[in-house]
Amino acid sequence: MALLDLLKHRKSVRNFLGRPVEREKITMCLEAARVAPSACNSQPWRFVVVDAPPLKNKLCDAAFSGIYSINSFCKMAPVIVVVISEKSNFLARIGEMFRGTKYYLIDIGIACEHFVLQAEELGLGTCWIGWFNEKAVKSVLNIPQRKKIDILIALGYYDREKLGSEHDREPIDKIASFNAY
Ligand SMILES: Cc1cc2nc3c(=O)[nH]c(=O)nc-3n(C[C@H](O)[C@H](O)[C@H](O)COP(=O)(O)O)c2cc1C
Repeated sequence: MALLDLLKHRKSVRNFLGRPVEREKITMCLEAARVAPSACNSQPWRFVVVDAPPLKNKLCDAAFSGIYSINSFCKMAPVIVVVISEKSNFLARIGEMFRGTKYYLIDIGIACEHFVLQAEELGLGTCWIGWFNEKAVKSVLNIPQRKKIDILIALGYYDREKLGSEHDREPIDKIASFNAY
């Protein structure tokens, strides 16, 4: 698929099929994330792929209960990818300090979108998940509490028929201009 078609084809999936996802496909998505650019080539990420059903269920129960239960649809997803925001390298951190820009979040965003788009190309659905019980995720996966987890990705096969058709987005003339603000 041409890139723009792929971008327009992708939509957040919140209704997954039970079918397990092949490790080779997950690895391709990880490879797509691996080659993402990052400030000072810092690569401040680590991906923990949770696809073992008992652990995945335990993770979802912990991550999406109480005030986070709006995301409990993730329990249907056969794979949850936990993205740990690792410490950036020295140069990137110096840059962050001087510019007041969280480069590491930009980096994580790009890497995750690479992952998501590769998944889309493989016929897999994803949903970015920013609303979850971070502390509980760390406890279940024995990730040190001092680490930061900014985002999860739910991944799995899905039924395209159950997705809406249109993207709800602002028109180009509202979000961009040439040669002036
Ligand atoms: C950083 C980020 C966090 C998000 N967190 C959630 C979330 O916690 N739960 C959810 O259902 N969708 C979440 N989304 C998905 C957005 O709601 C979705 O991308 C947006 O509404 C546009 O719809 P589309 O992805 O289908 O084009 C998140 C997306 C991003 C980029």
